[in-house]
Amino acid sequence: MLLYDNLSVTPQGHLAVGGVDTVDLARQFGAPLYVVDEDQLRANCRTYVQALAEAMPQGSMPLFAGKALCFKGLYPILKEEGMGADVVSPGEIYTALAGGFPPERLYFHGNNKTDEDIAYALDSGVGCFIVDNPQELDRLDEAAGARGIRQRVLLRVTPGIDPHTLQAINTGRIDCQFGVPIETGQAARFVAAALGKEHLEVEGFHSHIGSQIFEAEPFCDAVDILLDFAQAMRTAHGFVARTLNLGGGFGVRYVESDPMVDIPGNIQALAQHLKQGCAAKDYPVPRILLEPGRSIVANAGLTLYEVGGVKTIEGYRSYVTVNGGMTDNPRYALYQSPYTVLPASRMGEEGDFLCSLAGRCCESGDLVQENITLPQPRRGDLLAVLTTGAYNFSMASNYNRLCRPALVLVRGGQARLAVRRQTFQDLVACDL
Ligand code: LLP
Repeated sequence: MLLYDNLSVTPQGHLAVGGVDTVDLARQFGAPLYVVDEDQLRANCRTYVQALAEAMPQGSMPLFAGKALCFKGLYPILKEEGMGADVVSPGEIYTALAGGFPPERLYFHGNNKTDEDIAYALDSGVGCFIVDNPQELDRLDEAAGARGIRQRVLLRVTPGIDPHTLQAINTGRIDCQFGVPIETGQAARFVAAALGKEHLEVEGFHSHIGSQIFEAEPFCDAVDILLDFAQAMRTAHGFVARTLNLGGGFGVRYVESDPMVDIPGNIQALAQHLKQGCAAKDYPVPRILLEPGRSIVANAGLTLYEVGGVKTIEGYRSYVTVNGGMTDNPRYALYQSPYTVLPASRMGEEGDFLCSLAGRCCESGDLVQENITLPQPRRGDLLAVLTTGAYNFSMASNYNRLCRPALVLVRGGQARLAVRRQTFQDLVACDL
């Protein structure tokens, strides 16, 4: 019923996360509030670090995808846990470095890195660029040459796999704006061009096939395509890829009907598949990088809201309004993403009141969830939306000039503020 082991119910009937009472958290830090269970997050990091260390060649490593969640205080945790990090903008690079993250463990993504972005990343000492396209190759080579350095790169290719996931978060297909397709022959030309660059050191290839993937199979398919491609590149140029980066995408449970994901089991299966594939081609087994975002942070997070009231449209439905919504979590408005909602302050009570949760924006699409059941809600109740650690804080906005909520980390039964709530002064800070 509670979806994850880090959740429990206190004797007062309050939801607790990581042993901390959510009603106390809301009292102390206000609502809406993002709560991230640091112990759970660290455990998720360890699952990847250990599974890769056990199953994959030396040097294999998980890179946390900062697009899922990015704030300064996260990066010391990632550093301690032995993670690398995938960054997609100078802002993410800046945040990681401000958090003391080692630049050599940063992998810089992006399908449109501007000249300024390239300069900033090079001057920051970013370990590796994931080059998206031939134009970037040219500009990066020039910029690295101007600095007298040789930059490590991975080349992003699209294997043309559809892992049967949502169209909007599916990037492994051929027809997409990320990377260079193998099937059309363009990726082969991309590699030839990259190998001719004096100031670039090509380490291998990158592919990202999609998100919310629950089993190893689509990744194994990607490995097959990448190994065939790598073999062809060895034949053509004598180039041997030392690294394959298979992107992110392992899924999480948002609702009980979602499956559990066995990440170590999947990584084990993937390793076996990779080793067999390499043996069949007599190809040296490359190290493997993965870029998990969602599966590191989603289930570590939840959002607390206060109920404002109930509006029943007779003959239609009841709306329960909360003091947040699409500004702190746009995922239902964008993807109709399912979530589990719990009555955090009244966990002991029966829930048979059918309703939709509405946010507070002037926008009819501002819903957090539809057709859920709660104990008859009252103004002042605290609700928890589970599994909001990924793509909530990072996709938040100030629509309607709502202030972004604070984010607290809980660890060992204690809470600490990691990002303070925005103030009205913050809202006008850039306005001249
Ligand atoms: N690496 C690359 C190159 C990616 O494009 C992504 C996600 C990841 C890693 C991390 O994937 P994850 O492990 O988190 O599934 N806003 C959408 C998700 C967009 C994901 C885009 N790329 C959402 O809220 O579901």
